[in-house]
Amino acid sequence: MQLLDGKKLTAEMKQEIASEVAAFKAAGGKTPHLAAILVGHDGGSETYVAGKVKACAEVGIKSTLVRFEEQVTEKELLLKIAAMNDDADIDGLIVQLPLPPHIAERHVIEAIDIRKDVDGFHPMNIGRMVIGIPSYLSATPAGILEILKRYNIPTAGKSCVVVGRSNIVGKPVSILLSRKGYPGDATVTLCHSRTVNLKDITRQADILIAAMGKPEFIRADMVKEGAVVIDVGITRMKSEVTKSGWKLIGDVKFDEVAPHCSYITPVPGGVGLLTVVALLKNTLLSAKKTIYP
Ligand code: GUN
Repeated sequence: MQLLDGKKLTAEMKQEIASEVAAFKAAGGKTPHLAAILVGHDGGSETYVAGKVKACAEVGIKSTLVRFEEQVTEKELLLKIAAMNDDADIDGLIVQLPLPPHIAERHVIEAIDIRKDVDGFHPMNIGRMVIGIPSYLSATPAGILEILKRYNIPTAGKSCVVVGRSNIVGKPVSILLSRKGYPGDATVTLCHSRTVNLKDITRQADILIAAMGKPEFIRADMVKEGAVVIDVGITRMKSEVTKSGWKLIGDVKFDEVAPHCSYITPVPGGVGLLTVVALLKNTLLSAKKTIYP
């Protein structure tokens, strides 16, 4: 069993991005700029946004964090997005999810200029991804592809089972892995809460992607001997033993499943870390006007 080391890949990729940012600036390009909007004070969102801001600084990308209180109206938020869409210095614009229930996520996502949608959540970017024209790939699917590529894991003709059909992970990654070319050409099965005989299907998987957000749901008897297992779950649970008071739990029961795998991602230290890198990469692509010239 080999660990798919998100920490190592993240460090490697951050260095590559930092060099690219430096080269772009040296050639007269602008400093790439990521702006993030955070509504309220959800603990998870605070942590994720802080991680994004820190990662920007590490690679020479400028970042701005705009905060709103929980009570902000949808209209106020949309007005701010419109102003940031028009701000030529901002290359990437993200609104951290989830949002309070009185704000429609769909309205917010669709308000972001597709050229600045570095989260790749806008229906236009998702549609472009589906038909295979250049678009911003959202962070988690991009992170999964990067892991497969950097560990040279073959995907052509492989049976790939994705468990979980969310718009930001399960659905897009199933489409990306069935695209022509590498990392793709897999035979993909998308399973969800209504799937019958789930275990029979997951046991067929050469590559198993667990993305349903159910802590330690995937057990050893659900995994084929020698499978590649990618764990996308990150459920925050209260812990008495960690310094922060929280621990992160994946969708895979790691200790039980790992001995049966050829490769497996740990949680934490797997896919989660790479998601921030994907965001940095997209922000640089935006500053360079690569996707939308
Ligand atoms: N909430 C959970 N994941 C994400 C993400 O990738 N982007 C944003 N904006 N919010 C999130």
